[in-house]
Amino acid sequence: MPKLSDPLVIRGKQIKNRIVMPPMVCFSFQGDHGWVYGQQYVDHYAKRAQGGADLIIVQSTPVGGATEKLGVWSDEQRGPLEAIAGNCHRCGAVAMIQLSCGNVDINRLTVEQIHRMQADCVAAAEVAKQAGFDGVEYHFAHGFTLCKFFDPGFNRRTDDYGGSLSNRARMITEMLPRIRELAGQDFIVGVRMGGNIPDIAGAADVAGALEKAGVDLLHISFGMTIPINAVPDGFNGSAITYNGSQVKKQVNVPVIGVYEIDPGRAKFLIENGYLDLVAVGRGMLADENWANKVLAGEAVNECRRCGDNTRGCRWFDDHTQCPARE
Ligand SMILES: Cc1cc2nc3c(=O)[nH]c(=O)nc-3n(C[C@H](O)[C@H](O)[C@H](O)COP(=O)(O)O)c2cc1C
Ligand code: SF4
Repeated sequence: MPKLSDPLVIRGKQIKNRIVMPPMVCFSFQGDHGWVYGQQYVDHYAKRAQGGADLIIVQSTPVGGATEKLGVWSDEQRGPLEAIAGNCHRCGAVAMIQLSCGNVDINRLTVEQIHRMQADCVAAAEVAKQAGFDGVEYHFAHGFTLCKFFDPGFNRRTDDYGGSLSNRARMITEMLPRIRELAGQDFIVGVRMGGNIPDIAGAADVAGALEKAGVDLLHISFGMTIPINAVPDGFNGSAITYNGSQVKKQVNVPVIGVYEIDPGRAKFLIENGYLDLVAVGRGMLADENWANKVLAGEAVNECRRCGDNTRGCRWFDDHTQCPARE
């Protein structure tokens, strides 16, 4: 069985250990050009890469405007994006960026609007590649627009984008050949999805379809709702993490698990083969050196788990209020 410190190669890119920084928006950060990424973001990601996280997935980034190269996809914005990816590389980390499509009702979208969204998703991947990123992760989780396509309970479309499994997955499967053509064979295409859409078996089916279509990396979080399924005795992790481990059994591509993974759980999950990679979100906000410390067997500065769930984390609204900040 692998160890936390073991490397993993995806599309020829070597991730030196199994610890991932998952995407996390920080709304109180200042962009140097309005809302887009500026130096504060550049420094934030550089610190976590220096801290040993060897796969960094930059926060949810809307693809709107990517085809016209506006906003975050503009030439003006290229500098901070290049700096984020470049700093990761200098620390030996692999850099990905999460791409998202807002939060609209997919049942009301015209086919033309879906095609436009796909074009933006593809264009964003191309700009990400040009800026130096090793890959992108499409945000098909947490009830947002893309997540709704996968979920048979929400998706009531009667055209090519609803109904059968292949139709519900079409939003991403149709884009893959074009992304590969524009971004190249060494570009990692990942999908973050729910391990409960609508249940574990449904998620495993979607995961299988994505693997078959050429997705390189799956990141299993939650779908339309937070899962409340039980976890078997002896499994040291949350329901979300457990669902990820069950999806992993059904696919051969690497699977990232997430949610309330502390140092002990990280070792347990990797060393028992439940997951290929572990993502540590709030833990890495509370301690930018989380990965290096855990790999060295040192104690981390622990996250206090503010509020009832992740929404209680102060990094959403005002990171300066994080009680774990040193
Ligand atoms: C401040 C904050 C921002 C987040 N932003 C995103 C995001 O941009 N995209 C996403 O998929 N998940 C986002 N999440 C969820 C995290 O990626 C992660 O799944 C969640 O925090 C659970 O992991 P943890 O228990 O290790 O914190 C966010 C979570 C936090 C706390
Ligand atoms: S604000 Fe609270 S939940 Fe968020 S990282 Fe800091 S201690 Fe953890």
